[in-house]
Amino acid sequence: MLDLTTVDAGYGETQVLYGISLTARQGRVLAILGRNGAGKSTTLKTIMGLLPPRAGAISFEGSPMPKRPFDIARAGIAYVPETRDIFPSLTVRENLEIAARRFAAKGGEWTLDRVIDLFPRLGERMDNGGTQLSGGEQQMLAIARALLMNPRLLILDEPTEGLAPIIVKLIHQKLMALKQGGLSMVLVEQNFGFAASLADDVAVVGKGQVVWTGTPEAIRADEAAQHRWLGV
Ligand SMILES: Nc1ncnc2c1ncn2[C@@H]1O[C@H](COP(=O)(O)OP(=O)(O)OP(=O)(O)O)[C@@H](O)[C@H]1O
Ligand SMILES: [Mg+2]
Repeated sequence: MLDLTTVDAGYGETQVLYGISLTARQGRVLAILGRNGAGKSTTLKTIMGLLPPRAGAISFEGSPMPKRPFDIARAGIAYVPETRDIFPSLTVRENLEIAARRFAAKGGEWTLDRVIDLFPRLGERMDNGGTQLSGGEQQMLAIARALLMNPRLLILDEPTEGLAPIIVKLIHQKLMALKQGGLSMVLVEQNFGFAASLADDVAVVGKGQVVWTGTPEAIRADEAAQHRWLGV
């Protein structure tokens, strides 16, 4: 449903991505793995229109990807960035309501009630400000907000970064439930076990290029690739 074909991108004078080709399939989870600085977040920012591709092509559901982030979101892609980007001065409720209103006309299965069923903790924190939330609660809010856009594809950049093991486990359960519900996802992770257990397809990025693709079973069995590209 999402295809990148030989995409180059970078920041100013610096080229970071060199001919990235990737495919995310409908109803499946694609994990993008790679070391620090490999170009994983840059790949996601390029997909989301935050960085323009300098070469190559990106398509979504068979059409060229719109250029502006707003239009990309409206096309059905929700993005949870590394920084989570919740509004710190607004309450949990306000953060959620903004997201719910954004594409309200579109309708869809995800409502305020349903995201609170998924993350009951957020229901208890509705009137707390964004800055009063723990890292785990912020991540739950960021995911809940993305779901309220009723996306056809959910893109997550290192959802477990900096979280305690018990919260990582909880986020894992929730993402597994979303996968079982049929949601298509692209998941960038440093946590190899977390990603491998959720993914259907794996792509490894190294130095701005796709250096390995295959199944989670194949990357688990390929210790040389893990060592070389993931530092596992
Ligand atoms: N805003 C920026 N301006 C200039 N260079 C950047 C910028 N953001 C990232 N880079 C550079 O681009 C390269 C790839 O960074 P990127 O953030 O895509 O890596 P990553 O794979 O997501 O790493 P991590 O696992 O640490 O998040 C790095 O060399 C980084 O220094
Ligand atoms: Mg990153």
